[in-house]
Amino acid sequence: MASVHLVGSGGRAELRPVDINDSAAVTALAVDVRADLVVIGPEAPLVAGVADAVRAKGIAVFGPSGAAAQLEGSKAVAKEVMIAAGVPTADARTCSTRAELAAALDTFGAPHVVKDDGLAAGKGVVVTGDRAVAVEHGASVLAAGHRVVVEEYLAGPEVSIFAITDGTVGRPLLPAQDFKRLGDGDTGPNTGGMGAYTPLDWAPPSLVDDVMAAVVEPTLAEMSRRGTPFAGLLYVGLALTPAGPKVVEFNCRFGDPETQVVLAMLDSPLAGVLYAAATGTLSGAAPLVWRDGAAVTIVVASAGYPAAPRTGDPISGADGPGVIHAGTRLAADGSLVSSGGRVLCATATGASLAAARDAAYAVLDSITLAGSQHRTDIAAAAVAGAVRIPS
Ligand code: AMP
Ligand code: GLY
Repeated sequence: MASVHLVGSGGRAELRPVDINDSAAVTALAVDVRADLVVIGPEAPLVAGVADAVRAKGIAVFGPSGAAAQLEGSKAVAKEVMIAAGVPTADARTCSTRAELAAALDTFGAPHVVKDDGLAAGKGVVVTGDRAVAVEHGASVLAAGHRVVVEEYLAGPEVSIFAITDGTVGRPLLPAQDFKRLGDGDTGPNTGGMGAYTPLDWAPPSLVDDVMAAVVEPTLAEMSRRGTPFAGLLYVGLALTPAGPKVVEFNCRFGDPETQVVLAMLDSPLAGVLYAAATGTLSGAAPLVWRDGAAVTIVVASAGYPAAPRTGDPISGADGPGVIHAGTRLAADGSLVSSGGRVLCATATGASLAAARDAAYAVLDSITLAGSQHRTDIAAAAVAGAVRIPS
């Protein structure tokens, strides 16, 4: 399938059609435009080793090797690395048969956490109190030829911490909170993420330093020890449990939609730090500078998302500031239509989280998309001072 790749040219982006999972095609394009730096966004090309192929041509790449991207590509590999590195995470069993699945569900009890071992675009995880639903999901993953990971349930607010790394040195970005469930009050199915905000004024002030020391640094050391150093963006998804932060997942790329708010707060030029990470020179790079205040983003998803997103619906009011497009395209008549599940994000900054939240919802109010879905409670609990780490 042809995808679209952006190549910057003098401040404006130029669209070049290329299959982003095709190493040879991406490499040829990078050579053709004489790229100084290639930034590979999604997990699929990273897991497919596109970064290795481009790097082999002597071009700087921000993004891990295919082997290192297994931290996201396989939940079982991620668990092995975490255990070897002493990183706090949920206890888990990897299952290859229905009998192993049943035994693991009994071991951990409800709520059940059942995951597809392979890449599933954020939709391979079911968290349920209903054993029959857990069995059904696990069986469907096994039927697709993948292993199933069953985990201990982690209670507590979730946070996402991104570290830019050159394989040795890690630099954290601002922590953010994502909203994974489709519906208000964290109801409905898991999605890729329905909104986000940063910073997290309710979190312990030492959170980021603690996670760098307990998670990021040991993980980087373990990946180097294995001969698969991780250079790129290490996304640490955490639950802040009564026993401290525990890793829910690693991703090998910027998270969506947390990136929309984290980068809205970044004052330093992004390309410089990505280039330093890509060339193993992060220790000498200038410290990142952050803006004051807060940022909020709200995802507008299409009708039917996440199970069966409807596409081709007309969109209006989406050309103002603060609208970040994702699943949109221009139709033959030049009008804007939806082309994916998560269609766009309404993003705003403000002097306070409350101001940023109001401004983001004001951006959203001007957008129309038939049948669209969005949450009305993004950042609401944080504004109300109601986010609590269970004790
Ligand atoms: P993952 O793809 O592993 O990030 O899982 C997606 C979402 O499922 C997470 O963001 C959590 O909301 C939830 N989840 C995953 N693992 C657990 C766990 N062990 N305990 C509680 N919730 C979980
Ligand atoms: N927001 C979750 C993710 O990017 O995987």
